[in-house]
Amino acid sequence: MKENLPSYFEANRESWNLRADLHKASNFYDLATWKKGKTSLNPLELREMGDVAGKKILHLQCHFGQDTLSWARMGASVTGCDLSDKSIEIAKSLATELDLPATFICCNVYDLPQHLEGQFDIVFTSYGTIGWLPDLEPWAAVVEHFLKPGGFFYIADFHPVVWMFDDAFKQLKYPYVNTGVITTEQTGTYADKSAAINYKEYGWNHSLSELINSLLSKGLRLDFLNEYLYSPYDCFDNMVLGEDGNYRIKGLENIIPMVYSLKAVK
Ligand SMILES: C[S@@+](CC[C@H](N)C(=O)[O-])C[C@H]1O[C@@H](n2cnc3c(N)ncnc32)[C@H](O)[C@@H]1O
Repeated sequence: MKENLPSYFEANRESWNLRADLHKASNFYDLATWKKGKTSLNPLELREMGDVAGKKILHLQCHFGQDTLSWARMGASVTGCDLSDKSIEIAKSLATELDLPATFICCNVYDLPQHLEGQFDIVFTSYGTIGWLPDLEPWAAVVEHFLKPGGFFYIADFHPVVWMFDDAFKQLKYPYVNTGVITTEQTGTYADKSAAINYKEYGWNHSLSELINSLLSKGLRLDFLNEYLYSPYDCFDNMVLGEDGNYRIKGLENIIPMVYSLKAVK
């Protein structure tokens, strides 16, 4: 598996480049309303991250920077990193257009220490992140490297149980733990399901214990792990909107966990 990693990363970079402009134009990301001042962040992470004013935040896998710049609007000093050059290009142009101070770096998250200096109060990453990474221990080393002593790492992401299902959420298809690369052929994208794009992508499933142990192995201390039976995003097939404004899989409402969040302190 390991010897193919560069080609997996390259294919994923290309697929995220294909998605970037579509996402920018999509109702899902609703840039027009966001540009007028609406945050792209969800109540869940806003509540759990606490007051970020005056904090230095490093956002790993920031895509085209919408969430990164939402933190900037709240008074944080922000740096975002992403593999997709197209995404970073859009992030930089949005920061310029909205006159928001931000630094954006295009690189593989594993290589970030070669591209960025300094330490941060908060390392943040959210929704669709570690599933693109083959190995969590070196990733956790990057997290630890960029955290100031006393600073914290925060992640909110889709629950590993979600990634066990087929696209229709009818069958359990993939293992809960990381047993190697999962190759999928995709048409469209979660933000525009009918988009005329086709691509192959490469992902990895990670259990919660793998995630937690990777961070503990780098000396971080677990503050909390929360699990939620809803998703703030309508991004999978067969989702239904609840009265609380969140989404669940039809037929599996309030049965499977959809999202988790975790905070760990250095
Ligand atoms: C679903 S987005 C996550 C961001 C956020 N939830 C959003 O929707 O804006 C996933 C991002 O991870 C990035 N990515 C995938 N593999 C990566 C890697 N090895 N290093 C850095 N970024 C990576 C992709 O380019 C993509 O922009």
